[in-house]
Amino acid sequence: YSLLFSIAKGDVFGKDQPVILVLLDIPVMMGVLEGVVMELQDCAIPVLREVIATDKEEVAFKDLDVAILVGSMPRREGMERKDLLKANVAIFKSQGAALEKYAKKTVKVLVVGNPANTNCLIAAKSAPSIPKENFSCLTRLDHNRARSQVAMRCGVPASHVKNVIIWGNHSSTQYPDVHHCKVNMSGSEVGCFEAVKDDAWLKGDFISTVQLRGAAVIKARKLSSAMSAAKAICDHVRDIWFGTAPGEFVSMGVYSSGNKYGVPEDLIYSFPVEIKNKTWKIVNDLPVNDFSRSKMDATAAELVDERDTAVTFLGE
Ligand code: LMR
Repeated sequence: YSLLFSIAKGDVFGKDQPVILVLLDIPVMMGVLEGVVMELQDCAIPVLREVIATDKEEVAFKDLDVAILVGSMPRREGMERKDLLKANVAIFKSQGAALEKYAKKTVKVLVVGNPANTNCLIAAKSAPSIPKENFSCLTRLDHNRARSQVAMRCGVPASHVKNVIIWGNHSSTQYPDVHHCKVNMSGSEVGCFEAVKDDAWLKGDFISTVQLRGAAVIKARKLSSAMSAAKAICDHVRDIWFGTAPGEFVSMGVYSSGNKYGVPEDLIYSFPVEIKNKTWKIVNDLPVNDFSRSKMDATAAELVDERDTAVTFLGE
């Protein structure tokens, strides 16, 4: 609900690009979805040509150009991590197989539902004829959170902060890294440590604030982040569509194969990426110090563990 209006009115694919929105939900939600369709129609948006609501994967995934997989099985009280992974493997295996069968081979797939990295990996593995590079998971929300924390600390707009990095998993082990971040302070670009002038904060509370922000929003709102997640999804997909600005990189969970940072292969791991012609490339030449190294390794270890548990459910 938070996401649809922005996409429909051209924030993602451009103001002149006609859009057909296909909305997939589970059967019990079809009545509610009808109401959402009515609202979208009532917005009278010229580029929104059609809205299709369905509970059938063969309808939802047919000839798709872009798939945003938002839904997943949320963790319930008393649920073990393993049970959560098992339930989500079933969902993302099925959606991956539907992409394989029905979507265009050029489809771009963004996985948002948690555990997003591992869900994305399972979807990609279940769609072997779609290039692995077409799959990514959302860490732009963490990226935006990091950017905004630095901006507020420096008293500048968020647009004056660039090249923060989120490494690894969209979980509390993620590593928000500002060693390559630049801040525009009164017209001149300086390194983040120089701009903030508080190394202890940048190496301590800044990191934990970003890592735990999702949980803090849930605690306060009694609901998971929605507005900020929708904004991050739009930022992520718009950058895939139109590319990143020269000299700027963004964070995305992408296939780790071939990375130069020693991150194990066959993971969906968040890296700094540049995007051109709808194709991302890991920014592979940034120096990494010991502080960063250990945090990048810790989040990689969590993802290896998640993957190894998840793939045991793939054959079921
Ligand atoms: C967030 O980062 O806000 C969400 O991924 C948190 C959650 O668990 O839904």
